[in-house]
Amino acid sequence: MSMRNFVLPIFCVASGGMAFAQTDSAARTVADLPAEIEETGERAPSPPPLSSADDGAPVDLATNQYGIGSPASEEQIAQIDIDVMPDGRGLPEGRGTYAEGETLYADRCLACHGENLEGVAELGAPKLVGGRDSLASDQPVKTVESYWPYASTLFDYVHRAMPMDSPGSLTPDEVYALSAYILGQSGITSDDADAVLNAESFAQVTMPNADGFVEDPRGRGQTE
Ligand code: HEC
Repeated sequence: MSMRNFVLPIFCVASGGMAFAQTDSAARTVADLPAEIEETGERAPSPPPLSSADDGAPVDLATNQYGIGSPASEEQIAQIDIDVMPDGRGLPEGRGTYAEGETLYADRCLACHGENLEGVAELGAPKLVGGRDSLASDQPVKTVESYWPYASTLFDYVHRAMPMDSPGSLTPDEVYALSAYILGQSGITSDDADAVLNAESFAQVTMPNADGFVEDPRGRGQTE
C-alpha cells in the first residue's frame, strides 16, 4: 500500500471527508457548497433537477432496432395528462353545482368522510372542512379549508385519487360538483344549491390559507 493511500483515509476521517477537495482539487470535480440562507445561516437545499423532458431526441421508429413499443396515441396521453396547475391550467371543460355535489358526496364519499365531512378516523379518511386559522395553534387541524393553498389542487386530487375505492372513476363534471360542495361547505364558495363551478370560476377561488406558505429558497422556474 503506498503512503498516499494509507494517509488519505486517516486524513479523511479526521476532517470529515472534506480532505478530498483539498488534497487534489484540480483533478476533482466537487460541487460548490450551496449558498447560505441569510436569515438562518443554513445551507439552502439543492435546486430541483432540470427537467429531462427536452433532452431526449425523438425516437425514430424506422430505426427502432429493438422493435418494441409504439407511439402513445393522443387518446392515451389525454387519459394520463390530467394534472391541474395552481393557476388553473389543465382544468378540463365541464361544470357542476353544489346540489349535484351534495348528492354525489352522499353516494361516493360519505361512507369514508362522514355525513358532515368530519372524517372517519378509523378509516384514516380525513376531515375535509373546518380548522381555519388553527395551523399556528397548539391543535392544528389540517383540512382542505385550513391548509390547502390552491383550490385547483382539490380538483386535481379528487379527480386522480378519490373515491379511494375507485380512483379515476369520476367525470370532470362530477369533480366540479364535488368541489363546489366541499368548498361551499367550507364557506369558501357559495352554498346555494345552484352555485356552479367550472374552469373559469374555479381559477378565481382564493383559498383561506393561500398566504400561509413561505417562498421556496431554491427559487422557482427551474423546471418550467
Ligand atoms: C374508501 C374510503 C374513501 C372514500 C369512498 C373517499 N375517500 Fe377521500 N380519502 C380517503 C382517505 C383514506 C384519505 C387520506 C389519503 C391519504 O392521506 O393519503 C382521503 C383523502 C381525501 C382528501 C384529501 C384531504 C386532505 O386534507 O388531505 C380529499 C379532498 C378527499 N379524500 C375527497 C374525497 C371525495 C370528494 C370523495 C368522494 C368522491 C372521497 N374522498 C371518497 C378515503 C376515502
